[in-house]
Amino acid sequence: MSLTRFTVTGVRNLHPVTLSPSPRINILSGDNGSGKTSLLEAIYLLGLARSFRSTRLLPVIHYDQQACTIFGQVQMADGRHCNLGISRDRQGEFQIRIDGQNVRSAAQLAETLPLQLINPDSFRLLEGAPKIRRQFLDWGVFHVEPRFLSAWQRLQKALRQRNSWLRHGTLDAASQAAWDRELCLASDEIDGYRRAYIQALKPVFERTLIELVELQGLTLSYYRGWDKERELNTVLASSLPRDQQLGHTQAGPQRADLRLRLGSHNAAEILSRGQQKLVVCALRIAQGHLVNQAKHGHCIYLVDDLPSELDEHHRRALCRLLEDLHCQVFITCVDHELLREGWRTDTPVAMFHVEHGGITQTHDHRE
Ligand SMILES: Nc1ncnc2c1ncn2[C@@H]1O[C@H](COP(=O)(O)OP(=O)(O)O)[C@@H](O)[C@H]1O
Ligand SMILES: [Mg+2]
Repeated sequence: MSLTRFTVTGVRNLHPVTLSPSPRINILSGDNGSGKTSLLEAIYLLGLARSFRSTRLLPVIHYDQQACTIFGQVQMADGRHCNLGISRDRQGEFQIRIDGQNVRSAAQLAETLPLQLINPDSFRLLEGAPKIRRQFLDWGVFHVEPRFLSAWQRLQKALRQRNSWLRHGTLDAASQAAWDRELCLASDEIDGYRRAYIQALKPVFERTLIELVELQGLTLSYYRGWDKERELNTVLASSLPRDQQLGHTQAGPQRADLRLRLGSHNAAEILSRGQQKLVVCALRIAQGHLVNQAKHGHCIYLVDDLPSELDEHHRRALCRLLEDLHCQVFITCVDHELLREGWRTDTPVAMFHVEHGGITQTHDHRE
């Protein structure tokens, strides 16, 4: 799938604009502060109903405007078109529309417009809290396993119930035991989906990584959130006193993590920023391949400041992998000369120049 047209109004410093991007490679260049990241942010908003730069959406709205609005026409894998719209005003009014219908859940947007973001913050996937890696993992599972979402929702409900019981103890023992059974069932289901996903991801990740960088001995493994030798209900029973003391459940899929190690070390502690970036790119590109296999649709890549931290050899290797995904890619950079050459002749490449919030197309992919 790809964005065939999109319109952005009231986002950061961007002037109102409508773009018809290439279904494959789109390069946006411009000086610092011109609005490149803001454009990627607008696309991200359309796909996830949130920003990657701020937790709140108010800062995203242009200082002089009352609201920000993004419309996009998406061409689906089967050729159909789907119209997405999202807007947020200063009063906090928030609207998501899919084909003219109001929708409440952002999951539906994510389903229609699967996005992968690679930006200068991406190293957090390795260095940051487990939550970031769980989000990465669950993005993949969500897109390849249709049963995941409902299992995840059941888990959240059972977990809220248990945590409230741990804090206030208001439920009778029989009811709480029933909730715990539900918690364990949902947990096992989620663990099964995640495990199957990682098993499929690993070989694709390893193949992708070799194309990008040589890192002997880098391993990816999955921790399910509780002891792999024991059933969750046994673990819950033995950790009950501590859970009661803390007021929340310690073991379970809400504690799952991915581990990237180089020999006996945590990879994040050894790799350079450039190497970290390449590992993250390999992980995210591998996810794109799995989504392609599962849905015959394609996710869209947003790569902010692609050249940063990378030498020419690695930059080219990354561009080649992105090109070989056959996905729509939006790449930003300061100097477009670094990315102008090297694409295959049959790959449609569109180029845009961003200046003081205005965007002009300098090369049409159809030419
Ligand atoms: N809400 C806003 N309204 C208007 N301008 C903004 C707003 N938020 C940020 N800006 C400005 O938008 C500009 C573009 O930022 P950005 O997209 O990050 O640039 P680039 O990625 O091209 O370096 C910055 O100069 C910033 O000061
Ligand atoms: Mg930027």
